[in-house]
Amino acid sequence: MRIADISFRNRPLFLAPMEDVTDPAFRLLCKRFGADMVYTEFVSADALIRSVKRTEQKLTLLEAERPVAIQLYGRDVDTLVEAARIAEEANPDCIDLNFGCPVRKVACKGAGAGLLQDPDRMLSITRAVVAATRLPVTVKTRLGWDEGRKNIVDLAERLQDCGIQALTIHGRTRAQMYKGEADWSLIGSVKNNPRMHIPIIGNGDVTTAEGCLQCFELYGVDAVMVGRASLGRPWIFAEMRHFLDTGKNDAFLSFDEQKAVLKEYIIRAIYWLDLAEDTPIEEVMHQRLKGIIHSRRHLAASPLFKGIPNFRDTRIAMLRAETLAELFDIIDRVEPGELNSSAGNK
Ligand SMILES: Cc1cc2nc3c(=O)[nH]c(=O)nc-3n(C[C@H](O)[C@H](O)[C@H](O)COP(=O)(O)O)c2cc1C
Repeated sequence: MRIADISFRNRPLFLAPMEDVTDPAFRLLCKRFGADMVYTEFVSADALIRSVKRTEQKLTLLEAERPVAIQLYGRDVDTLVEAARIAEEANPDCIDLNFGCPVRKVACKGAGAGLLQDPDRMLSITRAVVAATRLPVTVKTRLGWDEGRKNIVDLAERLQDCGIQALTIHGRTRAQMYKGEADWSLIGSVKNNPRMHIPIIGNGDVTTAEGCLQCFELYGVDAVMVGRASLGRPWIFAEMRHFLDTGKNDAFLSFDEQKAVLKEYIIRAIYWLDLAEDTPIEEVMHQRLKGIIHSRRHLAASPLFKGIPNFRDTRIAMLRAETLAELFDIIDRVEPGELNSSAGNK
């Protein structure tokens, strides 16, 4: 399948955009393990046009992670157009528009999933951004605002008519937030609508290689996007890829290899947030660093530590560690438990 001029292998796997999670360090690791497309965290169009430093930092892209999309959110047409022009200067492969974020501070201000209640505005934004940039524009959204208003089949056609090059659908409504199960049947209806010709990327609750294969087979989507299941586990893309390509479920990293990946992530996060490229990491082993705090989300979520002896105490110690020396000492001493020796965590 293709998104504009970008071609992908058969049954590609995409890393979902996730705030505070899909930083360049994490995206790079997911890419290395086989993610075919990655997205930045969502970037506020309002903050971008006001040159907020923390927001501008989200535009940092690495050559090695391509293809990569910068995701924008907002509610005002002109602001999004200006933000898309600024984002274009960072030279991503696509601009993705977020019409799916359910959180109150975004959706209730009319941005993100809030635009599901105002399709005309959503379409005006999309048309204007498509016209304003030379880059392919894609959209990520949900099934609709709530159970009674699941309008994605109609909306998908109208978004396509605005000139977008791919559509990602998370199989929940805004009202569901992240609760309940993702419903893929409407994603399938969009894909099977004969009027649709752009790639459809399915998203929601894909956590295993078998589940991923089913999504391709049952719903015919062009790509599957994985979010939460990748937290603290970028190697999930290698497991899924291997299963899709060979039908075998045996592409697991060893316990020590998984530990090494998490340590690499922490170091990369530190270089991203704290250090100049030429500073040796040994110089900061005993300092408090932003990268350590930032990495905690992945450490807390990683399945690697589930089932280890003294899980609770080790986890607390890891999440309290303030320096790299302390944190690596804890990680180095972790031994696999019974659960870790079963498939998936060997
Ligand atoms: C911590 C977190 C942050 C997220 N941030 C974003 C975001 O910035 N942009 C976006 O489009 N979706 C965001 N999402 C939604 C995910 O991209 C994805 O649609 C959702 O988690 C469902 O996929 P999953 O079941 O594979 O996790 C976020 C989800 C989580 C859990």
